[in-house]
Amino acid sequence: MSDLYAVFGNPIAHSKSPAIHAAFAASAGQEMVYEARLAPVDGFPQAVAEFVATGGKGANVTVPFKEEAFRLATRLSERAARAGAVNTLAFNGAEIFGDNTDGAGLVHDITHNLGYSLGGRRVLLLGAGGASRGVIAPLLAEKPISLFIANRSADKAVLLAAAFSDVEPVNAGSFADLAGKCFDLVINATSASLAGASLPLPPGIFAPGALAYDMMYGKGETLFLQLAREQGAARGADGLGMLVEQAAEAFFVWRGVRPPTTPVLADLRAQLAG
Ligand code: ATR
Repeated sequence: MSDLYAVFGNPIAHSKSPAIHAAFAASAGQEMVYEARLAPVDGFPQAVAEFVATGGKGANVTVPFKEEAFRLATRLSERAARAGAVNTLAFNGAEIFGDNTDGAGLVHDITHNLGYSLGGRRVLLLGAGGASRGVIAPLLAEKPISLFIANRSADKAVLLAAAFSDVEPVNAGSFADLAGKCFDLVINATSASLAGASLPLPPGIFAPGALAYDMMYGKGETLFLQLAREQGAARGADGLGMLVEQAAEAFFVWRGVRPPTTPVLADLRAQLAG
């Protein structure tokens, strides 16, 4: 029988993860089944327990369960402990191992797929929620020269920066505090575009040659990438590559094989455009 995996979320119907992992399994020659599972908002632990009881070997976790998965894990990777959230679970007997591959996925997309090295760069991270928290340690591990976290509520950004002060100094503030500053890489980890809102970024924050990266993706240019282009960003990239790379990293956690991501990303890109 094939090993069983699933992604848990609510909603989950439109998740691309089953298609991504099916493609990975086929190209890596791995016998596995990967399903999308809708868990009730108040029933995530039960849904996971049922899945494990029926032979589930591992799971991905998406909105709104990443913090609950963090609490459910009996053992955490260091990067999950830092992120305060889990997007990948592996079940082994009574153990529930929790990992977080989001930051590694982002870094892999930027450094490998986009060919943009982070060493020595001035990095700006927009947002101070879970999406932002999950990527800070992996970003710092690439040794940027500085990292600034800007958020609508500046106090949240300051708190988040303080949580990483033992790793590297991280600066933080409001969007207004960005006036007069300049960055080589600007990453949008806010959910502003879900509300159709544009971020109040002061002009001049994009250094010559700067890359704008939106963790969101969609058909066509995202709101943030449009704003970044208008404000002078030289390049823009959306989060589709991060989605595929975090999945590849989860696949590696479970199967010990890193599947090729380029064809899967190209297929998803074509579907999105079509
Ligand atoms: P996630 O876990 O996806 O990061 P979250 O914890 O709800 O979600 O955080 C959402 C982030 O988007 C926060 O940084 C939020 O800013 P606040 O902390 O000030 O709420 C940011 N955000 C959401 N809507 C926004 C908007 N319209 N303008 C600017 N920032 C926004």
